[in-house]
Amino acid sequence: MAVTEIKLKDVYKDYFKIGASIGENDIKTHKDIILAHFNTLTCENAMKFGNVRPAEDEYDFAAADKIYDFAEENGIPLRGHNFVWHQEFPEWMEKYTGRKQLLERLEKHIKAMAERYENIYCWDVVNEAVSDGEDYMRNTHWLAYVGDDYLEQAFELAHKHLGDKLIFYNDYNEFDPQKRAKIIKRVKQLLKNGAPISGIGLQCHLGLNFDANYDEARRSIEEYAKLGLKIQVTEMDVSLYPYEDREMHEKPTFEQYKKQTDIYRNMFKIFREYKDEIDAVTFWCCADDVTWLNNFPVEGRKNGATLFDEDHMPKECFYAICDF
Ligand code: GLA
Repeated sequence: MAVTEIKLKDVYKDYFKIGASIGENDIKTHKDIILAHFNTLTCENAMKFGNVRPAEDEYDFAAADKIYDFAEENGIPLRGHNFVWHQEFPEWMEKYTGRKQLLERLEKHIKAMAERYENIYCWDVVNEAVSDGEDYMRNTHWLAYVGDDYLEQAFELAHKHLGDKLIFYNDYNEFDPQKRAKIIKRVKQLLKNGAPISGIGLQCHLGLNFDANYDEARRSIEEYAKLGLKIQVTEMDVSLYPYEDREMHEKPTFEQYKKQTDIYRNMFKIFREYKDEIDAVTFWCCADDVTWLNNFPVEGRKNGATLFDEDHMPKECFYAICDF
């Protein structure tokens, strides 16, 4: 098995925790990588509302249990992901349009997860609530039928059942000045309203067109840090294509990999500069054979977005972030 002698979690031990999101199969197929490099893990999909609760009275904990047990057996702290996300709003909940009905069901779900997975150290409570477009908040079932304060309600419920565990707001495009302003505005409102939020998750899904934005990345980390909350980079990957590219390509070129390496190197340089602000950096998916970007935004387009290739060998970008 191709695991390098250099271990990311050791390289970064004086900086921040290093993590990866994992699925139920990865714990077998990518066990060596996971055990060698990461000291925080995130449950990639298995704990999402829609997956755990296929029907109102049906629970499917099988995949989540496997990941939880794996993390426990190996002593690796686990993040829970997530409670409230428009993309994982269970279909059976769509018939409910009353504030009380929805909040009761959310509480039941949070309580069940908190009791079953009591050692999860951090939960993404609300994911992607802020709009990318002109609107302030994203128009979701939660916003429409619970109301503007559904975030406050979700954090209250999470705190009620999770006690002193970390509870996060998580979002993407977090370095974009307009989106950043909205995220900060909403988190400030949460704090003003007394919501028990403990941190912000910066997803950090980057693409090859990220080049010009390093100053914004720095500025963003500084702005988020002013909120006085914990900051984690929660879902980092660097796509081999610009976000706008929706074409099918045979395979990525050497130039694309080179650019990806530069982006990883530069971003980690920034993360290290802000080591006092950043608590953890988690990669989304642990190797190129399992990255979600192999099927998004183009189904079946190979996209080696991670640090390890399809044979689980460390890539240039791996060495680039270890060499400082
Ligand atoms: C978002 C979500 C994650 C995951 C990724 C891509 O960023 O927060 O749960 O679905 O997209 O897979």
